[in-house]
Amino acid sequence: MKRIITYGTFDLLHYGHINLLRRAKQQGDYLIVALSTDEFNWKSKQKKCFFDYEKRKHLLEAVRYVDLVIPENSWDQKVEDVKMYHVDTFVMGDDWQGKFDFLKDYCEVIYLPRTPEISTTQIKADIKG
Ligand code: CTP
Repeated sequence: MKRIITYGTFDLLHYGHINLLRRAKQQGDYLIVALSTDEFNWKSKQKKCFFDYEKRKHLLEAVRYVDLVIPENSWDQKVEDVKMYHVDTFVMGDDWQGKFDFLKDYCEVIYLPRTPEISTTQIKADIKG
């Protein structure tokens, strides 16, 4: 069984996220999503989530491509996660191109093209405006 992992906040789940998750799952058989906790999101990215961790987790668990959701608490947990969950392939959107190439010592690393013109930040801005 080929195991895939991806990381992200996935707030206000949108079709760009679903596209990413669908293509991530296509890389293998079992998709793990490491979901940024509210604390990590705030401390590391200065972003406040609209939906809290539990709500974002429930939404992701309802997506057919997702097999397991685990918490992302820090930038430094990736090597450990890859080893612990016997991950074959690490997938991220290409806004992170090259940033996680150090994981190539442990697994395959793939950056998928982002879906254009949609992001959580954009949705928030559009609703405000
Ligand atoms: N993603 C994507 N296409 C988009 C938006 C996101 O492929 N249009 C991918 C990202 O590259 C990442 C994952 O979805 O691999 C989760 O991204 P996240 O940062 O949670 O979503 P964004 O909508 O980009 O959120 P924000 O605007 O807060 O950065």
